[in-house]
Order: sequence, then C-alpha cells, then structure tokens
Amino acid sequence: MERPSSLPVGYRLAAFESLDSTNEQARRIAADGALDGTVVWAKSQTAGRGRQGRQWQSPEGNLYCSILLRPQMAAGEAAQYSFVSVLALGHALEGLLPDSVAMQYKWPNDLLLDGRKAAGILLESSGAAGGRMDWLVIGAGLNVEEFPADTGGYAATSLRAVGVRPVALSELLARFVEGFAHWRARWQNEGLTVVREAWLARAAGLGQEITVRLPGGQMKGRFDGLDESGALLLGMGDGTRRAVTAGDVFFQDSSVEG
Ligand code: BTN
Repeated sequence: MERPSSLPVGYRLAAFESLDSTNEQARRIAADGALDGTVVWAKSQTAGRGRQGRQWQSPEGNLYCSILLRPQMAAGEAAQYSFVSVLALGHALEGLLPDSVAMQYKWPNDLLLDGRKAAGILLESSGAAGGRMDWLVIGAGLNVEEFPADTGGYAATSLRAVGVRPVALSELLARFVEGFAHWRARWQNEGLTVVREAWLARAAGLGQEITVRLPGGQMKGRFDGLDESGALLLGMGDGTRRAVTAGDVFFQDSSVEG
C-alpha cells in the first residue's frame, strides 16, 4: 500500500486495505489510548457511515480517512471542527481542479463540485462528563473515482467525473492532513473568524432562500451567513433571524441535499 510522502508534525498514519469504517477504527484505538493526530486510512470500507445515520458507500478508488483528536474543549465548540475539516478538503483539491469547475462548501461540511456533492465529513465524539470530550473523530470521505448513483435525494459527483487528472490517494490524504493542520492552527491562533470567512467565501446558497430540514420539521428562510459560533443564520419572512445548529440544507433551485 503506497503511503503519503509525509504528514505534518504531530500526525501519524494507521493504514489499512479495508475496514468496517475508519471512524469506527478511530473510536476503537481511542479507547486504547491512541494519541491526538492519529490518522486512520482505508482503501475501502464495508460499513461506511454518513451523517444522520446514513450509509456511505465505500468502494475502492475513493478516499476514506479519519483523524483522531483529543480536544481540550467542550463538545459544542468542537463542532467548529466541521469548518476546519471542509477547508482542509478544499486545500487538498487546490490546484487540481480544472478552471471551469466551481468548488463550494455546503453547510455545515459538504464539499460540492459544480453543485454536486463530492465529499462529506462525519464528526463523532465521546460523551464526556462535564461537557469535555475524551476524543473527537473527524471522518472524511472524498469521491475520487466513484460516486453513488442513488443517494436518496442529492446529486453526487467525483474528481474523475469533473475532469481531475489521476492523483494518488496517498497524495490526496497528505494534502488533506496538511490542510487540516494548517486550518486547525489558524483557528487555534486567530479564532473562528478567519475560518468562517474562508468558509463563507465558498459558501453555496448564500443570500438565497433555503430549506433546513430538522429532526422535528423544517424551516424556510434566507441563508444570511454564520453566527460567531458557526450556526447557520436564517433570515425569516417576519424580519427576525434564527440560528440553526444542526440540520440538512436544501436549495430551492436544485435537488442538492446532504
Ligand atoms: C456525510 O454524510 O456527508 C459524511 C460522510 C462521511 C464519510 C466518511 S468516509 C471515512 C469516515 N468513515 C466513515 O464511516 N465515515 C466517514
């Protein structure tokens, strides 16, 4: 199995041909005391999982990896790693995409290429007494060669489908972890504002009418940006604004969902 040429200082690799799920493996090694910065990578997954309990199809050819962290923060704040993580995916793709392809981020942490989902992030953390977590696992799935035809509601794509030249998964992994280390450091040193601005510069649907599907129903409104904690700001018809911390976003003018 080819390995990334190098990972940033503080990160180390655990590589597998196949796993049930890199997130599951990261959870297992977290229980055994693995360190912050351990990166789990598998060529395929037999039980890949997505957000909201969905399945993540994981044939060979795509990137499946998870970064184990030991954050010294409350679970609510750690949700901001969503933005750090998708910026890291954006960093991984910088310079690889044909000029004609639009790369956007869809709240909270999907990456779209020409309006179709090419990557997603799944954050999982330990429940922790007193609000502090023992571990946080950030799982990233990037469609490189393959993408699912039947996603149950959103349009998908892959790097190959948008015309990216063949690139080794090990290189994509190295670029992702490099981007993650970069944006994590900027978040820690400069605060969320810089991360939020970088995310908003590529935000899909900003200023447009969107629907947010929540566990208990749905809300329609204008996507007005992010608040200082990263919650999605929804401008309501009556002039008020609501901050949404979890949900699935739908754009009115497309079937893209995620
Ligand atoms: C989403 O629903 O958009 C999130 C998808 C996350 C998939 C990745 S693939 C690597 C890691 N292991 C998993 O089982 N899921 C994540």
